[in-house]
Amino acid sequence: MASPLLIDCDPGVDDMIALLFACASHEIRLLGVTTVSGNVGVDKTTANALAILALAGRSDVPVARGSSRPLIRSVRGGAADVHGDNGLGGVCLPPSDVAPDPRHAVDFLAETVTDSAEPVTLIATGPLTNIALFYARYPDVASSLRRVIIMGGSIGPGNVTPAAEFNCWFDPEAAYRVLTDTGLSRQVPNFMIGLDVAARVSLGVNELSVLRNSGRVGAYVADALGGQYLNHFRDLDGRDTMPIYDSVTVVEAVCPGLITMAPASVEVDTSTERGRGATEVHFRSSNDQIVEQSVGVDANGEKIVEVILERLAGGDLPSCA
Ligand code: BDR
Ligand code: CA
Repeated sequence: MASPLLIDCDPGVDDMIALLFACASHEIRLLGVTTVSGNVGVDKTTANALAILALAGRSDVPVARGSSRPLIRSVRGGAADVHGDNGLGGVCLPPSDVAPDPRHAVDFLAETVTDSAEPVTLIATGPLTNIALFYARYPDVASSLRRVIIMGGSIGPGNVTPAAEFNCWFDPEAAYRVLTDTGLSRQVPNFMIGLDVAARVSLGVNELSVLRNSGRVGAYVADALGGQYLNHFRDLDGRDTMPIYDSVTVVEAVCPGLITMAPASVEVDTSTERGRGATEVHFRSSNDQIVEQSVGVDANGEKIVEVILERLAGGDLPSCA
């Protein structure tokens, strides 16, 4: 029985892979996609989400536009240096002919979760602005979520500042609401997969050529990955590989067990000091002021890449085992 899923995202090259992997996975039923400002502005992330779903032949999945800026403090720029000015590594996907859902992302999330016969899993692959607003506006509905899986934060160093990972750096107050103090009446199981673990899932030039030769979807993905995105990581560490961070969230929903989780609590730094946006992870904390949750500590990167490639390249669905 496919389990219902919502994805909140800021596509984004790695968000694109997460979305396409979700579309290719029979274990889940994608109820909708919501968008947020992050890698690029929300107008672009919304157009990108619609175009990615059209590419996957899933224009039936509604896309609802969300927040255009962080909750409290605006930030200058996003991650166009990584994802290109259009957010998709400069690749122009054929635009979708479907319009966004007229509802704001937060209302869309609330109505979709309410209407679902089964508890919904919510995935977040961008800044947590929409999710924080959802918790604030609809706490009872949010309390009924099956679980929340987040790509964000880090147990180790960050990628924007020495301390902060992009999604938490972009909107630390929202991250605090979702990771540290939800204010929900029920503790929704929360799974945070940070930069350090998500980075264990990476593609190299061999995987790019498998994708490129696999058909239309794979060729677009290879183009999105193989230009500015790959160059960014080449310049960073001199290697011909690039992390596809956001894909880990959908992998956790589809193939549980490939990412190792440990119980922990997370404190997000909302100061305006150098640590702003950093996540401090306390394993097995007994401090009940802080939300208990699971944090990713390891990932079977090789197996995850194998499963993603087989699904994106349109082959037979492999088992997760
Ligand atoms: C996160 O930041 C974004 O640039 C990526 O899409 C990913 O969600 C990694 O830090
Ligand atoms: Ca993202």
